Amino acid sequence: MTELIKERMPKHVAIIMDGNGRWAKKRGVPRLAGHRAGMEAMKKAVNHSDALGIKYLTVYAFSTENWKRSMEEVSGIFKLLVTFVNRDLRELIDNNVKVKVLGDYSSIPDASLKALEKTIEDTKDNTGLQFNIALNYGGRDEIRRAVEAIGERCANGEIAPEDITEELIGSYMWTGSEHADAPDPELIIRTSGEYRLSNFLLWQSAYSEFVFSDVLWPDFTDEEYDRCIADYQSRERRFGGR
Ligand code: FPP
Repeated sequence: MTELIKERMPKHVAIIMDGNGRWAKKRGVPRLAGHRAGMEAMKKAVNHSDALGIKYLTVYAFSTENWKRSMEEVSGIFKLLVTFVNRDLRELIDNNVKVKVLGDYSSIPDASLKALEKTIEDTKDNTGLQFNIALNYGGRDEIRRAVEAIGERCANGEIAPEDITEELIGSYMWTGSEHADAPDPELIIRTSGEYRLSNFLLWQSAYSEFVFSDVLWPDFTDEEYDRCIADYQSRERRFGGR
């Protein structure tokens, strides 16, 4: 068992859940079976984050680039999302989990949109783990939207260019005070042995620690999660200071 230091638990963990496709290929099953197994791993990660006392968990479920995948795969992922929220909504409520979405998800298929909105509404007063699902999310898109909104306020004369601080820009991110209201993640985990950020939390990751796991996402267990946190806890964060 991996020993973790309770006092040095990250408040916010973000995960790039990579490797569902390769997991499926290794087993000779359809890619969607990999995503289904990935959904189960995601659910375990929610429960384990909660058990560890982590306050915010953000998962990269669907990027702005993922629309390029086959229709079958895209609609399958969204069906899984409906399965997840419908099947597990009761449990999320009972476990005091608050669900938020990062990204403009208005363009996702209608059934998924409705199920998701119900989940957000039904869990909005919960005070436990905040589970942020990044959906139709892109870091550059997020920054572009912030620049547009701030530009509009400047053009209206509501604010002057010199009023544009890092805090103001941050407040326009999906994690900002107006939306999910989450601090920057101290730890970003990517599975499947890939070492890229892939347009995830570009603004918020300025001082994040990165931990890369070789495990394919559907095989990501509580033990592997603990190992990632132990790796994070073994590092010293200096924020550019000494
Ligand atoms: C990356 O694996 C995974 C995704 C793009 C989708 C993530 C979806 C889930 C974990 C299922 C739960 C779904 C929702 C929407 C809550 P990949 O397909 O890129 O794997 P590969 O790199 O091995 O091909």
